[in-house]
Amino acid sequence: MSDVQDRRRFLAFLAASPLFAGEAQAAVRRLVAREAPRRDTLDFAVQLVDASRQPTPIRRAADALDVFDFEPVAERRIPIAHWGYLAGGTDDDATIAANRDGFARWALRPRRLVDTSRVDASVTLLGQRWPTPIVINPVGYQRAFHPLGELAVARAARAKEHLQVLSTVSTTSIEDAIAARGAPLWYQLYHDAGDWARTKQIVRRVEAAGASAIVFTVDLLAGSNRETLVRSARRDPRNCLTCHEGGPPVPGMTGNVADRRGQSRIPMLNGYPPVPREPEVGLATWEWVKRLQDTTTLPVLLKGIVTKEDAELAVAQGIRGLFCSNHGGRAENSRRASVASLPEVLEGAQGKIPVILDGGVRRGTDVFTALALGATAVGIGRPYIWGLGAFGQEGVEMVLAILRKETELVMAQCGAPSIARITRAHVVAR
Ligand code: GLV
Repeated sequence: MSDVQDRRRFLAFLAASPLFAGEAQAAVRRLVAREAPRRDTLDFAVQLVDASRQPTPIRRAADALDVFDFEPVAERRIPIAHWGYLAGGTDDDATIAANRDGFARWALRPRRLVDTSRVDASVTLLGQRWPTPIVINPVGYQRAFHPLGELAVARAARAKEHLQVLSTVSTTSIEDAIAARGAPLWYQLYHDAGDWARTKQIVRRVEAAGASAIVFTVDLLAGSNRETLVRSARRDPRNCLTCHEGGPPVPGMTGNVADRRGQSRIPMLNGYPPVPREPEVGLATWEWVKRLQDTTTLPVLLKGIVTKEDAELAVAQGIRGLFCSNHGGRAENSRRASVASLPEVLEGAQGKIPVILDGGVRRGTDVFTALALGATAVGIGRPYIWGLGAFGQEGVEMVLAILRKETELVMAQCGAPSIARITRAHVVAR
């Protein structure tokens, strides 16, 4: 590098240095501008100044101030194709953004002078009490983010006493996950859209393993256009075929259990004795769900309900609970926040069954808002995977601890010492 370039870089460095604040920094930046008629050098200086304002990435889980602190650490540690799977949604990912925006449309109405010296955030779901309303929602393929995958998450769920829902496309079997959790968990079901016999085998295995509920996901039945995933996989220098015999991902493959390519590493889709096929005709409908309900001894919940009409149908059919969810913006690109769907889903559910809200929950304030609107509990996905990817079990535990602490703090601040004391009057549209 020439002397002149060196000098410019040095000035740019000074311009970015926290030692030069306010006027001094402005003066150095003026100097950089004069010294550097070339626009790119000035841009470099500006970038450095901006970079100096970014939070330093955390080195230990214990240093995290909020769940967002885990995201950049996880992004650096997770291979880009896998990161694309986690971070991406559908089409242009607009529904992921909508989910966050949905919470920003609500403001809190804190009540004062209530004794909140003791806050109890416990909730009851299907007859079981949990110390926190935060549910660990299903996320597929967790060993893509950390070598211990679902096992680390189950151990964290055990340590922090959370309800965990295991994905059909998990990289740990339900038997191992329950052993690590030390208690029953809920099982998220993707059915085999071509073979009822295989679906029944999965259901029997889940029952035998000791799961306490089946959560049938209804929002991916038509597939989903995962562009960010496909683009990220293309940027990954590794050969997908080394691990995935189906090759690189294609849009719409998640949840398609009938497509056997790439399933050899998914324990819940392997190891069944051969049985005669029972071919399905068409995609699952309410009749199919009835067949599932009649087949299993476990309570059946539906995940992916976003309308009053479907919530009403679910109640009428004896469904035991709903996840008001757009699959974290990974199903249809509705551009509607799941929290915006919540009021109508609650109207349809008529208070007869629990409604768990997920999609964009990142703060205790979000948890509180969802509960104030009437949700029974909330589900989280990406935040705990950021914790997992960044620091394994410790990271997941810290994410859970932060969200719980934030939730209890907002409850105390708003004058609601228990979940039952959180009311609709605690939030107002902005
Ligand atoms: C799995 O449920 C996914 O969204 O990929």
